[in-house]
Amino acid sequence: MENQRLGRLVLVIFPLQGHTTPMLQLGTFLHSKGFAITVAHTRFNPPNPSKYPHFTFLLLSDKLTESYTPATLNFYDLESITRNCDLPLQEFLELQTQTADSQVVGIIFDSIMSFAATVADHFKIPRLVFMTSSAGFDRAFWAFPRLLAEGYLPFQDSMLHELVPQESPLRFKDLPVYKQNIEETLKLIDYGRNLKNFSAIILNTIDCLEQSSLFQLRQHYKVPVFPIGPLSKVAPALSTSFLEEETSCITWLNDQPAKSVLYVSKGSLAISDEKELTETFWGLANSDQPFLWVVRPGSVSGSEWTEVLPKDFKEIVRERGLIVKWAPQKEVLAHSAVGGFWTHCGWNSSMESLCEGVPMISSPQFFDQKVIARYITHVWKVGFELDGVLERGDVDKSIRRLMTGREGNEVRQRAIELKHMINVSTLEGGSSYNSLNDLTEFLLAKNV
Ligand code: UDX
Repeated sequence: MENQRLGRLVLVIFPLQGHTTPMLQLGTFLHSKGFAITVAHTRFNPPNPSKYPHFTFLLLSDKLTESYTPATLNFYDLESITRNCDLPLQEFLELQTQTADSQVVGIIFDSIMSFAATVADHFKIPRLVFMTSSAGFDRAFWAFPRLLAEGYLPFQDSMLHELVPQESPLRFKDLPVYKQNIEETLKLIDYGRNLKNFSAIILNTIDCLEQSSLFQLRQHYKVPVFPIGPLSKVAPALSTSFLEEETSCITWLNDQPAKSVLYVSKGSLAISDEKELTETFWGLANSDQPFLWVVRPGSVSGSEWTEVLPKDFKEIVRERGLIVKWAPQKEVLAHSAVGGFWTHCGWNSSMESLCEGVPMISSPQFFDQKVIARYITHVWKVGFELDGVLERGDVDKSIRRLMTGREGNEVRQRAIELKHMINVSTLEGGSSYNSLNDLTEFLLAKNV
């Protein structure tokens, strides 16, 4: 049956949770449209094939050793992740061209796995880049060369709270500075310039959220752009977690009053220290608000998990708080008991929250998260910022502001309005619905 499908698409994934999830969701959609799917992955963090019986898999060698874990992987270690990956992809494509099985009609690659574009180009196969963050992030990224030419870079600490010219509402502190270093950022932009070698761009975003950034993106790249989000709704049942989800927290949520629980999670990469963990705990405990808190093992430097918290922390929070190692996040955010999300503003988490109409407290850690956080508070106006060194008093105040205050009600109303707009975009005739169809047509046209 497989060779009667519309042709094969190769999906080249980057092996982090926030990148793998949306790519597998996209693959699931494209498979439902009739394409055969091959998932090309590294030895590090491979997807579990038994969870995706409709896909085939291609192992790309990489320079990562077995000792790497999600907690120790340096996100910026792009070079070692992509080194040696091109050859297996090339061999695979050579083999495919010799067999009449299913013709490879396109390669969809994570923007970090840009070697795939060069390989695909060699075989004259359409290459589509999948940008796993927001359009606003990409736009902010491309502002750096202009800011350099206009003499704004490097910027002084005294400018951190000033608005970036032509990039309002971003402040200098919201710019996605790579490795906290402007020179490194400019180097990465140079690397990105070579990435222009692609036929189309796919983004897990929605027209109604990022219309002006999408407009700029189209002007900049001059190729078709497909904003097809929210992918979490396109393939809702797909399980993509690398870590085991503690589903028992849903039973706990079932016993909590509607909209009362603050969900707290900092995604799959963010690292904090023991002081931050303690201040977070006391802020949560003092707020008198029910909370479900994800503390990923290894995410607190110097601790394995929550040892640093007071021994009697369970008595302190009584039945009002639950700490887990990893949650079924989409299910949690969709639960009627959840009334707020304290997030690190990773793009997937932010989109999942927007889809469910859950207002946010934003505490970005690095890179794209800073841009996304600013959009949450100042463009979509669905949350409040909690930035800088965490102090229990500020945490407590922010939680009360979001969960019980008048302002909290206003952002909650706004979040519900956005949820409806997002929902409409996925229905027949909606922008994402149309974009998904356009993407399918684009791939089919390349197939003739
Ligand atoms: C990273 C970057 O930080 C992010 O900014 C970028 O946009 C993508 O890559 P990550 O930090 O993990 O991702 O954040 P995010 O994009 O939010 O992805 C986290 C994913 O893990 C989400 O899909 C979320 O649902 C899932 N998750 C998180 C769980 O399933 N359970 C949890 O307990 C926590």
